[in-house]
Amino acid sequence: MVRVGVIGLGYWGPNLVRNLHSIQGVELSLLCDKKKDRIEYLKSFYPALNYTENCEDIFTNRDIDAVVIATPLATHFRLASEALRSGKDVFVEKPLTQNVEEAEELARIVEDTGRILMVGHTFEYNPAVRKIKQLISSGEIGEVKYITSTRINLGLYRRDADVIWDLACHDFSIILYWLNEEPLHINAIGRDSILRGTPDIAFIQVIFPSGVLSNIQVSWLAPGKIRSTIIVGSEKMIIYNDMNVYEKVKVFDSGVEVKSSRDYGELQLSYRNGDVHCPKIDNVEPLRVEMEHFIDCVKERKKPFTDVHRGLMVVRTLERAAHSLRFNGNLTSWNVPALAKGHR
Ligand SMILES: NC(=O)c1ccc[n+]([C@@H]2O[C@H](COP(=O)([O-])OP(=O)(O)OC[C@H]3O[C@@H](n4cnc5c(N)ncnc54)[C@H](O)[C@@H]3O)[C@@H](O)[C@H]2O)c1
Repeated sequence: MVRVGVIGLGYWGPNLVRNLHSIQGVELSLLCDKKKDRIEYLKSFYPALNYTENCEDIFTNRDIDAVVIATPLATHFRLASEALRSGKDVFVEKPLTQNVEEAEELARIVEDTGRILMVGHTFEYNPAVRKIKQLISSGEIGEVKYITSTRINLGLYRRDADVIWDLACHDFSIILYWLNEEPLHINAIGRDSILRGTPDIAFIQVIFPSGVLSNIQVSWLAPGKIRSTIIVGSEKMIIYNDMNVYEKVKVFDSGVEVKSSRDYGELQLSYRNGDVHCPKIDNVEPLRVEMEHFIDCVKERKKPFTDVHRGLMVVRTLERAAHSLRFNGNLTSWNVPALAKGHR
């Protein structure tokens, strides 16, 4: 039995509670939020569970093995480090921390304490995202040329994070996972349309060491919700629409080839518009997969798939994008020899 405490019962925490509640071998020992109304709300669904307004009650409870943290970004470092130092295994929501310094310090604490720390990069547990990873890694779509992603909707405006840290965090975790490399150059522009000093629109351009280009647009200010990513390879192309229930991933056998011509100097292009195929995607909730994986890691003392180092990698990328945006579209270039592995 893994005994779990949850901190943060706002918008997202209840989804984690719902999934943990239905996993065999998990006991939800103590749920915490500093706001009474959030506790009352959760109590209406789970009246038999125990609640507290003080997270210290979780850290000092010797019967609790693991802590799940779904609080605002600025609190992640303090709560996660205190939980680890209290001997708990920790799941912390994305992004891992609000800067690289804090993420590096968490990595040191994980090393020192030998505890497990997993970051909630939910999309890396999404069956559609995993299917695309397979299509890329197997070479089926050929050499990836570029990836473009749109993640826009109206709100939710956050007080603790801007649109890059809130939404582009997902795109970076997905694309870094697919390509298995960190960006070489990042350039971002954006604007604070509604709240002064809080960017709510950003257009981010990325160049990876392998040469793959990426364009990510994120916005809290848009008339509708779009979650769409296109991956173009030398052999095939993919459209991933996370809003489409039945056809999330479409693989297009499309491309353009250069044919040699008899006439010297004349290029002939041949356009291929072949079959479109929708691979079967398991119909499981990514959060369920994510929570099961966390519990499994706690039980088996395994390193999580999205461990502190993956969390750090995404925080480093977010910080670079945010830095470029702050300086109005300055390119942030980086030397990444150790990480430049290529995506195959
Ligand atoms: N993985 C995803 O797809 C996803 C989606 C949404 C949010 N999130 C992440 O979840 C986290 C929480 O987001 P949210 O939208 O639920 O925020 P929220 O503001 O709605 O809820 C946060 C809750 O934490 C509580 N809290 C803050 N500090 C606390 C403390 N010290 N002790 C006890 N309670 C405390 C607040 O009272 C609030 O109820 C963020 O990191 C966010 O990025 C992840």
